[in-house]
Amino acid sequence: MISRNDPCWCGSNKKFKKCHYPQLKSNSDLPKTYLKDYGIIIKNKKQVEGIKRSCKIAAKILDKLCSRAKAGVTTLELDDFANELHKKYGVIPAPLNYGSPPFPKSICTSLNDVVCHGIPDKTKLKDGDILNIDVTCILDGYYGDTSRMVMIGDVTEEKKRVVETSYQCLMDSIKILTPGIKIFEIANVIEKIAKEKDCSVVNQFVGHGVGVGFHEPPQIPHSYNNIQIPLVPGMTFTIEPMINAGLRECAIDSGDKWTAKTIDSKPSAQFEHTILITENSHEILTAL
Ligand code: MF3
Ligand code: CO
Ligand code: CO
Repeated sequence: MISRNDPCWCGSNKKFKKCHYPQLKSNSDLPKTYLKDYGIIIKNKKQVEGIKRSCKIAAKILDKLCSRAKAGVTTLELDDFANELHKKYGVIPAPLNYGSPPFPKSICTSLNDVVCHGIPDKTKLKDGDILNIDVTCILDGYYGDTSRMVMIGDVTEEKKRVVETSYQCLMDSIKILTPGIKIFEIANVIEKIAKEKDCSVVNQFVGHGVGVGFHEPPQIPHSYNNIQIPLVPGMTFTIEPMINAGLRECAIDSGDKWTAKTIDSKPSAQFEHTILITENSHEILTAL
């Protein structure tokens, strides 16, 4: 990883911090520049505080939902429980009525070969299932977005592999985050791990800026890309790699227009955190 005192990557022979290190003369220029050039909202102190509070609640709700996910429970019952928890904590579930057609439930529940955006229904969880639960809550207009996998009872080696790989992809890509890192470097970490574990990386869905909106710029692709935007303090975004045991391609259900499944029916897994870039590093805002 390039540090502030290394020679700049551009070949100027200047130190990185005096050259392409993304620090403008006046710090107050940065939000303006990022908004104008990329549509990225650099959050101020007050916004960061609000987003942090929302993220903590999202993490708590997700944790309670995961504890409730057992064989015999339906994903609809998890959605009911999610509604109860959102009420209890005074937050709004962002997925409900989001998008077009409006998403019909308050959380996403993605089972086995469902890559993302699964809709809670009367399906009972059973031994051997893997389930992603994705919670996004809104508190005073601020968003927190996080998801996790649950393994129900004994699962196959293939399912275990894809769950563990998706977790490692998320956590190892978070480790590199610091001001000056470019967006494309996140995917490089994820692709490398996925390859080592004989898994594929979904490219039809991406991580995203989040905080004052649900899905803000920039996009954070998990698969190889060339996005050169440097991370700067005050950016808040998700990383949420969807990792498949087989082919990376997914198809969206033509009936509900939401449920995305792997085309080869092999299992898929995903973990997601909302991250803040700080002056020297990062914070995982949706950590418990
Ligand atoms: N929470 C998902 C994400 O990580 C988005 C879900 S959109 C919905 O970005 F409408 F399906 F809920
Ligand atoms: Co997200
Ligand atoms: Co999410």
